Amino acid sequence: MASSKLTFTSKLPNAKTTIFTTVGNLARKNNAVDLSQGFPNFEVDQKLRELVTDAMENGHNQYASMQGYYGLREVISEKIEAIHNKLYNPETEITVTVGATQAIFTAITAFVNIGDEVIVFKPAYDCYEPAIELNGGTPICVQLDANGYKVDWKVFKNKITKKTRMVIINTPHNPSGRIFSKDDMLRLQEILRPTNCIIISDEVYEHIIFDENEHYSASRFEDLSQRSFVCASFGKTFHVTGWKIGYCAAPADLMQEFRKTHQFAVFCVDHPVQRSMAAYLVNEENYFGLPLFYQKKRDLFIEGLKDTRFKLKPSDGTYFQLLDYTDITEETDEDFAKRLIVDYKLASIPISSFNVGNRQDGVLRFCFAKKNETLEEALDILRTL
Ligand SMILES: Cc1ncc(COP(=O)(O)O)c(C=O)c1O
Repeated sequence: MASSKLTFTSKLPNAKTTIFTTVGNLARKNNAVDLSQGFPNFEVDQKLRELVTDAMENGHNQYASMQGYYGLREVISEKIEAIHNKLYNPETEITVTVGATQAIFTAITAFVNIGDEVIVFKPAYDCYEPAIELNGGTPICVQLDANGYKVDWKVFKNKITKKTRMVIINTPHNPSGRIFSKDDMLRLQEILRPTNCIIISDEVYEHIIFDENEHYSASRFEDLSQRSFVCASFGKTFHVTGWKIGYCAAPADLMQEFRKTHQFAVFCVDHPVQRSMAAYLVNEENYFGLPLFYQKKRDLFIEGLKDTRFKLKPSDGTYFQLLDYTDITEETDEDFAKRLIVDYKLASIPISSFNVGNRQDGVLRFCFAKKNETLEEALDILRTL
């Protein structure tokens, strides 16, 4: 058959297949131990699966309300109030979304106009910039130093112009595993106070935080909360990334505008899954146990690397560990990651593609949200290097 003669102009001419897909495919082809993508390889709580089945059996199989099943929004509101002492009205200030990705995409689409600037901290999770560009905005990048991945707030302040419409923050941060301290949040609040900037606060790893550290949600700070979409992911919190369910919380006027886009993009989210989340979320043990659960995995992983030539970057949260490999090789992270998969059968993520200009930090990202036996297998390989 002749190929199509249709012509079109790509709205994302520079977008390539993501590094996750490229690495994932290579890992599968080589049957590698896979610590690349950020999802667990252990099973979901049986109770949660039963709750979805119950919801289906009980007839919740048609559209849920556009903003999300009210019972779920109510428990989300109670949870945020209990943890962060901030009350969001479930009627007007919380919307259930198809994962955090859709919340982020929708907030950008609803507010970013042609010519607007959006500040993004790099290395950054890869869904932010394409969404900004699709809406005619310009990502303005603040590259974090590889020595700690901490924000220099003076550099950030200098990036703000009259065109700055939005700032995207992510704490705990993927891929570095660093977190914003209370002081960071206060600095951000002071800098943005005189501006008209909206914030997307990507907090998908809110419950994965270690060593007695605290998660400082944007919702805890009065001025920040007045300008923020706080985005969360049940996929990350309950080991169900494939269910693609999350939510965002924001002041009513911002949320009203958000919903104008949301209703035409997705209308509503999987109904039985929402019902299951509403029931499961009531028991706080289902998420308060998470820091310890993942800290044990992090510690198993870093303990096992003790006598290797890898240097560990601090991981305060998320389920990622960055390893500096510069004592082993001078290869680029993409070359080294590829060689690890093909020759050693271990997959990780090279993070240069998340840096400005593909800056080489000499580090690879490993996901430790895996069964202990998978982590042991990976350690056996890493110890040979
Ligand atoms: C920082 C960050 N934000 C957002 C997401 C997407 O979350 P969801 O799967 O709920 O769309 C991820 C997933 O890896 C992430 O790491």
